[in-house]
Amino acid sequence: MREYTVIANWKMNGDLSLIDEFSSENWEESTVKTVFSLPYLYLLYAKQKGIKNIGAQNVSSQAEGAYTGEISAKMLKEVGCKYCIIGHSERRSGFLESDDILIKKVNQLKNEGILPIYCVGESFDDYVKHNSEDTLEKQITPLLINNLLDDQFIIAYEPVWAIGTGKSATPEYAQKTHNFIRNLIADKSNILAKKVKILYGGSVNANNAKVLINNEDVDGFLVGGASLSLDSFKKIIKEIE
Ligand code: PGA
Repeated sequence: MREYTVIANWKMNGDLSLIDEFSSENWEESTVKTVFSLPYLYLLYAKQKGIKNIGAQNVSSQAEGAYTGEISAKMLKEVGCKYCIIGHSERRSGFLESDDILIKKVNQLKNEGILPIYCVGESFDDYVKHNSEDTLEKQITPLLINNLLDDQFIIAYEPVWAIGTGKSATPEYAQKTHNFIRNLIADKSNILAKKVKILYGGSVNANNAKVLINNEDVDGFLVGGASLSLDSFKKIIKEIE
């Protein structure tokens, strides 16, 4: 049976009591793999509360040293972090993270055995000008030329215009774009193309989860807003099970 993955991206939201609430669930019982990408400060607490699959939302591009305010991949590993979001559009645009920086970050994670969740996605301008595929190819090519994909790699396709807007991509558009991404990978390796998980993100909720997941190339979701309430997050999982 196909294994779906749903990743909660809390961004800079939530608090200790929300972690208490989420940790009262037994997430391992579901056929859907759930991952919780939390603010750095909460990772250790979530782990101690029994949440197994925890992820960060960023990591330093450096291994250690005089980088005030940064967190290394080794530190994430030490607190039991298994996943890390890289290149979310909010970091690409708000924190000017270039492809070069993102590739360094992926390398740091891979050195520590942490699984990257690599975000790609076109802007609204690209979308209306039909430049989405060009943009996606530019974003994915550095992963391919640096041989960074492996059979556990996760790509999250998040059209920027769908993030936090309540306007998710249509199932047809999501499938077409996921298939485009898979074919880019297949040009390099057919085996990897079948194994790499391609998640959709952008205004996923309990109402659209089913129609989006019923597409061959959609392997799960990266969920922002709807992951901040236990009830709405559980409803998304139920739609997929
Ligand atoms: P959203 O965010 O579900 O609130 O649109 C998704 C994301 O940014 O990862």
